Amino acid sequence: MKKRLGLVIGLSAAILIPSLQETKAEESPKHHHKIDIVAHRGASGYAPENTIAAFDLAVKMKADYIEIDVQRTKDGKLILIHDTTVDRTTDGTGKVGDLTYKEIRRLDAGSWMSEKYKGEKVPTFEEVLKRYKGKIGILIELKSPELYPGIEGEVAKLLKAYHLDKPRNEKVIVQSFNFDSMKEADQLLPRIPIGVLINKTADTTDAAIEQFSAYAEYYNPSYGLVTAELVTKAHEEGMKVQSWTARSRETVQFLLEMKVDGIITDYPDYVK
Ligand code: G3P
Ligand code: CA
Repeated sequence: MKKRLGLVIGLSAAILIPSLQETKAEESPKHHHKIDIVAHRGASGYAPENTIAAFDLAVKMKADYIEIDVQRTKDGKLILIHDTTVDRTTDGTGKVGDLTYKEIRRLDAGSWMSEKYKGEKVPTFEEVLKRYKGKIGILIELKSPELYPGIEGEVAKLLKAYHLDKPRNEKVIVQSFNFDSMKEADQLLPRIPIGVLINKTADTTDAAIEQFSAYAEYYNPSYGLVTAELVTKAHEEGMKVQSWTARSRETVQFLLEMKVDGIITDYPDYVK
């Protein structure tokens, strides 16, 4: 069951933390009336992933969230890129963590997809917080955080700097495949919803779901793992479900029928 409920010891404690309870109540599935459209790496079916072009397009398409992948350069800058090397999505080569921000910033992150996007840059995490805060929700994935010790604290620091650690109208979620990292993020950012990314059957058992609910508000499985029962179980444990990555209308339709709370898709316009 929900992590914070365990912290409420007795009636007096419950009275002392009404704002926290209200925040969590807003997030519970029974209050959720619409599907969240999450633009995966931005509207990445149409514009190069994890670039301003893809994020701007997601805003234009009226997605509810952009999903971003955060990693760290050699000199400590938090940047947005999916792979742990720059090879696939830029004109450069090498590991993200072996390159300085200056080296990465001069790469072209658009031409690999289309000439139309020549000159797109690898954005920084901060630039995206600044540009999209209050305009669209941000689903922040810590990508391979085990490669970047301490990245959870650095992400928390920047969220605090932009007053996004206690969001009001702004929507912010932090998620990862690395569950230890998410337990740490939960400690650092107690007011931010935490998501666990699920891609293994072993993490779909009732026992596993109950364990995740101790620190996570979002249970986010690959669509291949989704069943109506899985969604119900996550809901029973007080978590919402955002599933990924829908790249066809059929997958979108399937996830709608499964009654997930959010669809993470490269094509935000596929979700009506
Ligand atoms: O948000 C879910 C999804 O992004 C997880 O997979 O590999 O696209 O980061 P990946
Ligand atoms: Ca991702």
